[in-house]
Amino acid sequence: MCGIVGYVGPQPALEVVVDGLARLEYRGYDSAGVAVLDGGTLQTEKRAGKLANLRRALEASPPAADGIGIGHTRWATHGAPNDVNAHPHVDGERRVAVIHNGIIENFAALRVELEERGCKFTSETDTEVAAHLLSTELKDRGDGDLAAAMRAVCRRLEGAFTLVAMYAGDPDLIVAARRNSPLVVGRGDGENFLASDVAAFIAHTRDAVELGQDQVVELRAGDVRVTDYDGAPAPVREYHVDWDASAAEKGGYEYFMLKEIVEQPRALADTLLGRVAADGTLTLDEMRLDGAELREIHKIVIIACGTSYHAGMIAKYAIEHWCRIPCEVEVASEFRYRDPILDRQTLVIAISQSGESMDTLMAVRYAREQRARVLAICNVNGSTIPRESDAVLYTHAGPEVGVAATKTFLTQLAACYLVGLYLAQVRGHKYGDEINAVIGQLAHMPEQVEKVLGTVDPVRALARSLAGADTVLFLGRHVGFPVAMEGALKLKELAYMHAEAFAAGELKHGPIALIEDGLPVVVVVPSREGRGVLHDKIVSNIQEIRARGARTVVIAEEGDEAVRPFADELVEIPAVPTLLQPIVSTVPLQVFACELALAKGNDVDQPRNLAKSVTVE
Ligand code: M6R
Repeated sequence: MCGIVGYVGPQPALEVVVDGLARLEYRGYDSAGVAVLDGGTLQTEKRAGKLANLRRALEASPPAADGIGIGHTRWATHGAPNDVNAHPHVDGERRVAVIHNGIIENFAALRVELEERGCKFTSETDTEVAAHLLSTELKDRGDGDLAAAMRAVCRRLEGAFTLVAMYAGDPDLIVAARRNSPLVVGRGDGENFLASDVAAFIAHTRDAVELGQDQVVELRAGDVRVTDYDGAPAPVREYHVDWDASAAEKGGYEYFMLKEIVEQPRALADTLLGRVAADGTLTLDEMRLDGAELREIHKIVIIACGTSYHAGMIAKYAIEHWCRIPCEVEVASEFRYRDPILDRQTLVIAISQSGESMDTLMAVRYAREQRARVLAICNVNGSTIPRESDAVLYTHAGPEVGVAATKTFLTQLAACYLVGLYLAQVRGHKYGDEINAVIGQLAHMPEQVEKVLGTVDPVRALARSLAGADTVLFLGRHVGFPVAMEGALKLKELAYMHAEAFAAGELKHGPIALIEDGLPVVVVVPSREGRGVLHDKIVSNIQEIRARGARTVVIAEEGDEAVRPFADELVEIPAVPTLLQPIVSTVPLQVFACELALAKGNDVDQPRNLAKSVTVE
C-alpha cells in the first residue's frame, strides 16, 4: 500500500529512487512520482498509472538537477489516481515536498485551518495537508529545522502514516516519520536510504535499521539520527537482511508469480529447516513463550486476512486435532468490533505475510490490550506485527513480490503445523514419536510439491480453455474447504472473475441452484485415508452437481478410482496425510488462476485495484 523511497548520497539520486520504486511497485501502482532537490532547487515529476509512465515523462524531460531524492508509488485512498493526486505534494512556494503512505484521519479539519491561513490546495489528497503544515511550521519556527517541524506536525496528525519530506532550505537532508505504517532505513557507506521495504535498497546495502512507532529519522549522507516525536533520542534495531537482490528479481520468469510458484518447495524446506533438536524434540527458537505459559492456554484465536486467513482456517483443523484446544478463526477486520472474549489464557495467533496488514495489526493490539498472548506468523523480518507480538515464528519464503500470495501461503501452513505440533509437545497431548512421525511427513512435503509442479501442464491447458467462463465455483470439505476458498480468491484477484467457494455439504442448502449446464466446478477431494467418510460424501456431492450439468474439475489423490467416473477433468495430486493435503492441493489452484489470468491478458503480478500490503483499515 504505497511504496516509499528516499536517497541521500553521491549516486545520481533520481536513478536510485526510480530503481527503488521499480522494486516497490507491487505495493501500489496507480500512480508514481519523484522529487529531487539540488541546492535550493526542488523539482517534481508525477504521473498516473504504472511506473513506466513516470519513466517516460522523466526521459522526455529530465530534471535539470539531481541531488537528494524521494519517490512514491501510490495506492489511492483520498482522491482519484490521476497526475494531480499523485505524490509528491508540495507547499505553495514549492520549498517543501512530501510523500506519504497511510491515511491522515483528521485531514479535513486541518485543511480548513490551513485554507483559513491562506494555503491553496491543488489536490484532493490528505497528504497535501502535511506539505502545507510542514511549510507553515517552518515559517512559524523561522529556524529552518525540518526535523523539528516534522515532529510538531506529527503530534497534530491522527491516523496512520509514513511521511517523508525534503526542504529547499536544507538540501542535504531527508526527514521521515512513522506511525502505524512501515519505514526502514538502509545504511550505506557515505550514503543512506529509506524505504517502506528493504527491497528498495537491497541492491545497495543489506544493513537495515528498523524504526519504532512514533519516531522521526533525519537522513544525511553520513548520518542517521532517530528521535521520538518530542525530540529525544529513540532506540532502534539494526539488522542484516539475509537475502540479496537476486531473490527479489524475476530470474528469467516473465512474472514474479510464476517464479514464486516454482520456488515453493525451497520455501517450504527453508521454513522447516532446523526445527528439530539433536534429542528429536521440536524447537521453535523464536517463540519467546515458555512452556509454562503455553500450558496455561485454554483457547486459541487465529486472526488474519485474505490468504493468510485461509492458512488460519486450515491451522484450526490441525491444532484442534493435535492439541485438543478450542480454536477460533476470524478475519482480522471483524475481530475487535465484536467484543471478543479474551484473557491471559488465550493465545492469539496473528498470521500475516507482510507483518503490516493494518486490520491484523489493530486486532493484535486489541488482543494485547485484553491481556491475551499474541504469537505472530510472519514472512518479513522486523515488520510491525511481529514486533508488537509476544512471540514470532518466521516463515522463510524469501521476498514475495507478486501481489497474489503463493509461496508464503504454503510456508504459513508449514509454520501453523509446527506451532500445532509444538503445542502438542509442550502440553503433552502427543507422544514424541507421534510428533516425529508428522514432522517426518512434513519433511517430505517439499518433494511432494515438486511432484505436483511437474504435472500441472494439463491444468494450464484447462485454465486456458476456461478463459471465457463467467463463473467458477469451488467446493471442498474439511481442510479442502479453505483450499477451495483460496482457489476462488486467487481466481477473483488475478482473473477478475466471479469465483465462489462453498463447503460441499452446504451446496444442497441453496448454492446448488447456481449449477447449470457447463458451469465449471472445481472440487477438492479429501484423502481416502483417515477421513474416508468425508471422501465418500464428496463423491456423492460431485455426482449431484454433475447430474445438474456442472463441468467437474476434480482434484483428488492419485489412484482415487472412486472419483474418476464423475470427473470431467481429473487433476491428480500425491497421496499425503489428510491434514497436510492443503500443501499439495493448493498448488494446482494457484497454477489454474495464474494461467487463466494470463490467458485473459492480465498482469498477474499487479492485479487491478490491489496492493501487496494493505496498510489501511
Ligand atoms: O500480508 P498479509 O498476509 O497480512 O496480507 C493479507 C492479505 O491482504 C493477502 O493474503 C491477500 O489476500 C493476498 N493478495 C491474496 O493473494
